[in-house]
Amino acid sequence: MKLFVTGGAGFIGSCFVRTALAEGWAKQVVNFDKLTYAGNLENVAPIAGHAGYRFIQADICDAQAVEKALREEAPDAVVHFAAESHVDRSIHSPAPVIQTNFNGTFTLLEAARRLNIARFVHVSTDEVYGSIEEPHDADENYPLRASSPYSASKAGSDLLALSYHTTYKMNVCVTRASNNYGPYQFPEKLIPLMISNALEDKPLPVYGDGQQVRDWLYVEDHCRAIRAVLQKGRAGNVYNVGGNCSLPNLEVVQRILKATGKPTSLITRVTDRPGHDRRYALTNSKLTGETGWAPQMDFTRGLQATVDWYVQHKAWVEHIKSGEYRRFYELNYSQRVS
Ligand code: NAD
Ligand code: DAU
Repeated sequence: MKLFVTGGAGFIGSCFVRTALAEGWAKQVVNFDKLTYAGNLENVAPIAGHAGYRFIQADICDAQAVEKALREEAPDAVVHFAAESHVDRSIHSPAPVIQTNFNGTFTLLEAARRLNIARFVHVSTDEVYGSIEEPHDADENYPLRASSPYSASKAGSDLLALSYHTTYKMNVCVTRASNNYGPYQFPEKLIPLMISNALEDKPLPVYGDGQQVRDWLYVEDHCRAIRAVLQKGRAGNVYNVGGNCSLPNLEVVQRILKATGKPTSLITRVTDRPGHDRRYALTNSKLTGETGWAPQMDFTRGLQATVDWYVQHKAWVEHIKSGEYRRFYELNYSQRVS
């Protein structure tokens, strides 16, 4: 199978590319990535020399570049990860988020339709359901109630992708996953930010009361789910991908401090995120029932593996923190503590 992966230099996309080639179920992978602040070729270094791997640096919003690459590569499937993925950035600066997540997805769908690409998996998020009141869990028919520009852009792109199935009979599936964690995650997201700050004895900024609940999914479990949907998902269907591990943020931070051997005095309460969703919760039963997939990584083990990876990859973190990262982090942090 030949895959055309967008956003394959990011956190989840790179895990997907590395595992698809290493496991051998994909013979060829074309990685189409703009290399924004979040894209990093070090993330795909382990497979960069693989005979079946090709990298194209380009923007999914560039219709000509997308069409040219898809025409030349003629893949069996598109797996679409590329996005502006950070909620806080989408609040500070929504324009690039709407541009890439909505218009970029449109550009890609259009090219795939014109070139009759056989399969299209659009990688989306549980954030499209908005905050979910206990004791409910969202299934795939739960109403869309996006709260941030990021989640609204993803909800819009989900609907667009599904409309290409309804209208043009394109073979499209949408996945909606919960919060991922694991190696190579950009340290602007909760878990890698807290690990890297703890390792440097810096404050750990917890938004609001820290009682917001997220469902944690190990990145390799997510990638196995995307493979299952790619190979077995029914066209025109949405599949939730949850980790069966709901925890309040404060507890996650406390566990990180325990795993890194650092004191709880590093925890710093800061101003809450505007429009902050209180709780995400998914049911996985559709994906499990149709494909047999289930999350395998236990959170304690996954968190320890993640902490160990960040301890062993200080140069990777330092490289990121010396770049554009610092400017956004310092702006975000200073606005929250003032
Ligand atoms: P990431 O920010 O780590 O990586 C995004 C990648 O997309 C980067 O390599 C970046 O260079 C690339 N990119 C961005 N804009 C682009 C453009 N215009 N053209 C081409 N490439 C572009 O993101 P991630 O956390 O790996 O998320 C990947 C996907 O999974 C996203 O669609 C996101 O919405 C979805 N998702 C993420 C999570 C999570 O917890 N991180 C959970 C559910 C779903
Ligand atoms: O739910 C899936 C989504 O998970 C993905 O679609 C997004 O791409 C991904 O970024 C993630 O979104 P969140 O907003 O849930 O993730 P983040 O890591 O930014 O925040 C997780 C929780 O931690 C959230 O409740 C906000 C809180 N938080 C976050 C940061 C960065 C803090 O308390 N302090 C922080 O410094």
